Amino acid sequence: MFDRYGREIRSMRISVTQKCNLRCFYCHNEGQKKSDVELSPREIERIVDAGKRLGIRKLKITGGEPLLRNDIVETVEKISRHMDEVSMTTNGVLLGKYIVALKNAGLDRVNISLDSLNPETYKYITGANNLQQVTEGIKTAAEIMPVKINTVVMKNINENETEDMTKFAGKNNAALQLIEIETDKKHANNSFYRKYHHDLQDIEKELKEKALRIEVRGMHHRKKYFLPFNGKEVQVEVVRPMHNSEFCRNCFRIRVTSDGKIKPCLFDSNCVDIAGLIKNNSDDNKVMEAFEKAINMRKPYW
Ligand code: 5AD
Ligand code: SF4
Repeated sequence: MFDRYGREIRSMRISVTQKCNLRCFYCHNEGQKKSDVELSPREIERIVDAGKRLGIRKLKITGGEPLLRNDIVETVEKISRHMDEVSMTTNGVLLGKYIVALKNAGLDRVNISLDSLNPETYKYITGANNLQQVTEGIKTAAEIMPVKINTVVMKNINENETEDMTKFAGKNNAALQLIEIETDKKHANNSFYRKYHHDLQDIEKELKEKALRIEVRGMHHRKKYFLPFNGKEVQVEVVRPMHNSEFCRNCFRIRVTSDGKIKPCLFDSNCVDIAGLIKNNSDDNKVMEAFEKAINMRKPYW
């Protein structure tokens, strides 16, 4: 299905919990209002099925931290029946424990958040001492499926680590994704944002010079730079969403909150409730109508 701006909705980003075992100080909580309500695997499956009927083929599971749900493997198994590709964002702390079961349940790829390879910086950002668990998790996962490392680059915190991160990714057969810290229009000028925001323009210029080749992804028109690494290539992707109309023009996904509301955009709090319909045993047509309503509400933010 297309929205009113001609953007085809091809993928879904579904949050399955707001709980997290880390406390990253910059976390945007996927733009969700606080809620303890979580959907069951079967309820999630019904939402995914409705999305499939509207043409959605790809899905990303997010949190909070999805691996804190004790039914996450069952959830992946139910989702993967309906989608061509299922991926997950995780902070990696519990990844080593679950990765094989997740793969067997149909998980195709994984994004692992890691902002620093320095234990003190890692602790400063996340409030926890799990660096080694996460790096081990990345290594184990990369042996069995494609892995992307998500790094939020922040001024005076980790902006000098991008080369080390690139090497770490290359060594472990993972791709790296450098993300500019992001906030909404209301907070774009506040002191927190100004303190930590590091423009990735310079890093991107350097990547451009070093790259063997560059690709532009359909989604968000994000650029991927392929750098030489030990006779192979390492992929570095750059995510700069703010004040970037090209990013929004090429946004083909819709979000679902952990309490079952369809969210047209990260920064749009006008959601369409779908969990209520499912809990009231509404038929598939009603569920799809709610989905369509949310897609029709989509507006490019930047
Ligand atoms: N800006 C940019 N990225 C963020 N993430 C969380 N909060 C922010 C923010 N304010 C990223 C995490 C993780 C992904 C789920 O979202 O680093 O990789
Ligand atoms: Fe937020 Fe992810 Fe950090 Fe948890 S690990 S606090 S969800 S950014």
